[in-house]
Amino acid sequence: MKGLLTAGGHGTRLRPITHTKNKHLIPIANRPMLAYAIDYMAEAEIEEVAIIVNAGDREIETVFGSGESYGVKLTYIEQDAPLGLAHVVKIAEPFIGDDSFLFYLGDNILVGGVKKFLEEFERTQSNCHLVLSRVADPERFGVPKIDGDRIVSIEEKPANPKSDFAITGIYFYDSSIFEAVNSIEPSDRGELEISDAHQYLLDNGKSVSFSEITGWWKDTGKPSDLLEANRLVLDNVAGSKSANVDEKSSVTGKVATGEGTTIVNSQVRGPAVLGDNVYVKNAYVGPYTAISDNCRIVGSEVEYSIIMSGSSLENVECRIEGSLLGHDVELSQSQIRPRAHRIMVGDQGRVEVA
Ligand code: G1P
Repeated sequence: MKGLLTAGGHGTRLRPITHTKNKHLIPIANRPMLAYAIDYMAEAEIEEVAIIVNAGDREIETVFGSGESYGVKLTYIEQDAPLGLAHVVKIAEPFIGDDSFLFYLGDNILVGGVKKFLEEFERTQSNCHLVLSRVADPERFGVPKIDGDRIVSIEEKPANPKSDFAITGIYFYDSSIFEAVNSIEPSDRGELEISDAHQYLLDNGKSVSFSEITGWWKDTGKPSDLLEANRLVLDNVAGSKSANVDEKSSVTGKVATGEGTTIVNSQVRGPAVLGDNVYVKNAYVGPYTAISDNCRIVGSEVEYSIIMSGSSLENVECRIEGSLLGHDVELSQSQIRPRAHRIMVGDQGRVEVA
């Protein structure tokens, strides 16, 4: 069993963060999103994993290296152009060879990992095992039509979905998928669609089994999805305290803090995670907040937010919440007259003032 993970694409709905950072490296509870997918592979005892990256992208490899610290062996494969998920499978054929494999879209986050789905794939001995999740907006996904316990057809982003299931980005295949991805034609948007490859399997008498995710699953396309994923992961975070906390501060609930972090005259209410060398003074850090290394939260209040490394909130009167701050972002209260909002945001930045 091998693993194939996607970490390419352009993350257009997450701009401006993705102007300078690969979407899959955005921190969820202070760990890069893709780290969770690699963990799921390791937990399922899948040791050889290839990561598909955009052509010329070295960022992912710089972060994950050989994979040794995750207990997997990583190989990096470049995709020359974004020609679709079935194209990703196609270019991975030399790596996969005759093995079965788990194809996992690196922006999917779920509770409980993938091991039980792998066991189900092995038990059913099907050619393809899909993992479904009930959603409110199936038209955004690949959608199956189900008859009894069988999938009878699959459509990509249908205007009139035939069920309220999304096909999640967790797919188990044997090598018959290669015939499928080598036979289908590009869709109207010019991509080799993974749903068309699945339909090809159905049309050619291959067995397609499925499991349903009953817990939490999300594909993190939008900022609100990232905040939700962050909330979910923080709910399961183990509290650990290496911070220096003065006697005027209170740290309650599950709060994980890193080395060199200092909390002075402040309230920190978990679940929350503060990285290394974070300085919190005269401040409130509320539930579901992830603050990466080297941030300063001074005279300010923040909750339900992701704050990336090197950023600061200084004397901001209004509570910050539901926010996503990139690296080295400065947010401060105006100290000079006339008092006004003075803003410098990059292309496609979004600011909501209260
Ligand atoms: C892709 C697939 C879609 C699947 C989804 C799951 O869509 O094409 O079938 O349901 O991933 O995350 P995308 O996220 O690329 O729009």
